[in-house]
Amino acid sequence: MNLIHPIQTARTVVRAADAGDARRLLRYRVENREHLAPWEPLRESSYYTLEHCVQALAEACEAMRLDRAYPFLALDHAGEQVLACFTFANVVRGAFQACHLGYSVAASRQGQGLMHEVLDAALPWAFRQLDMHRVMANYMPRNERSGRLLERLGFEREGYAKRYLQIAGTWEDHVLTAKIRGAD
Ligand SMILES: CC(C)(COP(=O)(O)OP(=O)(O)OC[C@H]1O[C@@H](n2cnc3c(N)ncnc32)[C@H](O)[C@@H]1OP(=O)(O)O)[C@@H](O)C(=O)NCCC(=O)NCCS
Repeated sequence: MNLIHPIQTARTVVRAADAGDARRLLRYRVENREHLAPWEPLRESSYYTLEHCVQALAEACEAMRLDRAYPFLALDHAGEQVLACFTFANVVRGAFQACHLGYSVAASRQGQGLMHEVLDAALPWAFRQLDMHRVMANYMPRNERSGRLLERLGFEREGYAKRYLQIAGTWEDHVLTAKIRGAD
């Protein structure tokens, strides 16, 4: 059972991913395969199967139960189509109270301010309900769209990490940014 309440935004319903989302998630993965490939790790062909989505959602529910990661979907108001995805991942408690944020929007919705709308609603949730002190988000220098999005959301640049993540098969440098609770 999903105990995280949905958040309504102007164009979406934002809620935690759950076991019933496999077909919706598969459609998002398949339709956005080429759009997302330059910005994500290499995917096996099995990634684009219903089985893989079922498994990923089971792991997502377990990760939430263990307070390790919180994967979300932003759906259209009918609750049918996935318009964007994001995850508060790598949750660390204790003195750190921090996590990493990863996100993507459907190719058909890019450039319309949708990711901003969704994350602008979700970040206060992460700071209040998840009790995060710091949300970190990192992007490749050539991903200018992502950099501008983070800046508009109030993330501040904290550093530059060489060969930080393996994206599309290559170890890529990343700009490190973070948003701190109550900083704006
Ligand atoms: C990065 C990504 C999530 C940005 O999503 P997006 O919805 O296009 O981003 P935004 O919400 O910031 O909107 C972007 C544009 O919409 C325009 N826009 C239109 N209406 C808007 C509105 N109401 N509010 C805000 N912006 C609006 C803005 O001018 C902005 O243009 P700009 O980026 O040229 O300045 C998306 O490009 C994506 O999924 N990329 C592939 C995956 C990826 O890179 N993930 C991140 C890895 S770090």
